[in-house]
Amino acid sequence: MNSSDITNKKSYFSFLMEPLDLGFTILKNRTIMGSMHTGLEESWNGFYKLARFYEERAKGGVALIITGGISPTFSGRLSLFSSQLSASFQIARHRKLVSAVHAYDTRMCLQILHAGRYAYHPFAVAPSAIKSPISPFAPKALTGKQIKNLIKAYANTALLAKRAGYDGVEVMGSEGYLINQFTCQNTNQRNDEWGGSFENRIRFSLEIIRAIRHVAGEAFIIIYRLSMLDLHKEGSDWSEIEFHAKQIEKAGATLINTGIGWHEVRIPTIASVVPEAAFTWVTKKLKQNIAIPLITSNRINSPELAESCLQNGHADLVSMARPFLADSHFVKKAMNNQSQLINKCIACNQGCLDRVFKQQRATCMVNPRAAYECEYPLTKTESSKTIVIVGLGVAGLSCAYYAAKRGHRVIAYDAANLGGQFNLAAEIPGKEIYHETVRYYEAQLSLLNVDVRRNQKVVVEDLLDNYADAIVIATGVSPRIPDIPGIDHISVMNYETAIKNKLAIKDKVAIIGAGGIGFDVAEMLIVNDKKNAGEDEWYDFWGIDKQYRNRGGLLNDNVNHEARRTVYLLQRKDEKPGKNLARTTGWIRRLTLRKAGVKMLSNLRYEKIDDFGLHIVHHGKNETLAVDHIIVCAGQQSESSLYNQLHDIGYPVHVIGGAKKAAELDAETAIREGMELAYRF
Ligand SMILES: Cc1cc2nc3c(=O)[nH]c(=O)nc-3n(C[C@H](O)[C@H](O)[C@H](O)COP(=O)(O)O)c2cc1C
Repeated sequence: MNSSDITNKKSYFSFLMEPLDLGFTILKNRTIMGSMHTGLEESWNGFYKLARFYEERAKGGVALIITGGISPTFSGRLSLFSSQLSASFQIARHRKLVSAVHAYDTRMCLQILHAGRYAYHPFAVAPSAIKSPISPFAPKALTGKQIKNLIKAYANTALLAKRAGYDGVEVMGSEGYLINQFTCQNTNQRNDEWGGSFENRIRFSLEIIRAIRHVAGEAFIIIYRLSMLDLHKEGSDWSEIEFHAKQIEKAGATLINTGIGWHEVRIPTIASVVPEAAFTWVTKKLKQNIAIPLITSNRINSPELAESCLQNGHADLVSMARPFLADSHFVKKAMNNQSQLINKCIACNQGCLDRVFKQQRATCMVNPRAAYECEYPLTKTESSKTIVIVGLGVAGLSCAYYAAKRGHRVIAYDAANLGGQFNLAAEIPGKEIYHETVRYYEAQLSLLNVDVRRNQKVVVEDLLDNYADAIVIATGVSPRIPDIPGIDHISVMNYETAIKNKLAIKDKVAIIGAGGIGFDVAEMLIVNDKKNAGEDEWYDFWGIDKQYRNRGGLLNDNVNHEARRTVYLLQRKDEKPGKNLARTTGWIRRLTLRKAGVKMLSNLRYEKIDDFGLHIVHHGKNETLAVDHIIVCAGQQSESSLYNQLHDIGYPVHVIGGAKKAAELDAETAIREGMELAYRF
């Protein structure tokens, strides 16, 4: 499909005027792959790999792909080495992306993102010289002349994008980046034509749209990503959002996309604790008064949900970002009524955003091929082997899936049912969705005729009785029990027992170990006592007002969220509990426990456990925590005895996941190891 095929924007979106069909065919035209910066944009040979990444998604049926944010200028780069499109010589590599996508019935827009004060380098600029709390670099205030040059730079990038073959651009105006910094009072304290009144503060965004429309012509798609809910006290109020949207429409934008929150705000907007489709109500609120099509976004992860957003009039189009990392063929599967075969995004952020923050290439925990399509092509093996896998936690499931997909014969055993530790994780409030990963693998293994043998605990002799070219041990972990006097007291249980019997847990609990599982258990205990509360409680807990009575869409926050239970979360190390939790979700977990009144103590020694409770020495003082239960979350040990026995007799055996390394459970590593091993057979 050539961009020249699009004669004008009205005919391109004419399908939006048609009534919605029932069934997932409506998703074909109305599904957008939201912007995601993968890190390939800056890596060696990255655009070639990025082309394969986008190509697979275009092949999978998505209507429109938006690239990750690309800066129009040097100052706007997210980091010193981030991507920029401002010169003709940079067009060629973008053409590779566009032609890969245009080989299918999919359109493509370049996102123009200027980081403003979020730029992680000393050349950051912003409307005013006010440092962001999440960046060490104070920005310089832009002069009036620099602002005018920046508007030209946006237009220049859009023109270059058009020359590269893109169907349009998305102007990033939300999440607290430069344009959003102009819009809000706290970051814009100018007193010239770009600051002061709201009309002045939105002038920058409108001039950018007008400049792009002027240079790129009528047929070029301009999407404006509008911050519809700033989620901070000096954010826009609803009348301002509505006014801004109307002006964006007048200035010549084709579509408005939804942006939620600022990166520096401590309210979760995309993590798994956020209810599915949690913010589509904001898009719906705006839709009543805006004529151009609106796109909704955030935590929409299934065809059913996407379709209900459309059917219920929440938006005209649905943007999904991470769901296209998790499954490149989301749309095709939906249209073929194969929803059960979709690998659902579980919003863990472990494979995508957490890796980006570690300067690694984004991928997906549940789909480690994402952005690694070149390294792991979907080709069949030339010599099919028989692979026996023992243990069907996520490491074993992933290995079984990829080995079978590549054409190997796979026999897989599990001592229980499938899923391993993921079944436990799914019992934690906010992680219920982890069941979906197990459901996905189960459906795929059945489709690929993997011989799955459930509830079979195998010993070495069973394995030696059958022929196998290779045996994979993925037997996972078991809880580690620390050596504390009284550890076998009746009040003590490990995390597995606690999670499986959560409804029987009484009111006073001490948790030994403040790693990921300790946090999980604490979250389970504080939320469990509110089990009858509805979804609205989530908005109350995080201070979001769906009535939009205040600026930023915030509630007047004077509500007490203390949990009914008394929960102690304990660790021996002298550091902040939860310090090593993942970057993009750790703060949510720490804040959740703080709000609920969980007592987090570190730098302590466990003395003993008896009928009086748990005796500790904290900061040199003896204390007794008079609790009903003591839950041990002190790490895991590998269940690797089968591997050791087979290895000792010289058998071709491999070990992956927790059975290989138990230190801090890491499902992202486990699933990736499963895939990597399958590609070595
Ligand atoms: C790895 C990653 C990179 C992202 N990069 C961008 C970006 O460059 N520009 C942008 O507007 N949003 C970016 N986002 C946010 C997404 O566009 C989207 O708003 C967010 O993931 C929520 O939607 P989802 O639940 O469908 O994933 C990124 C998200 C991820 C996971």
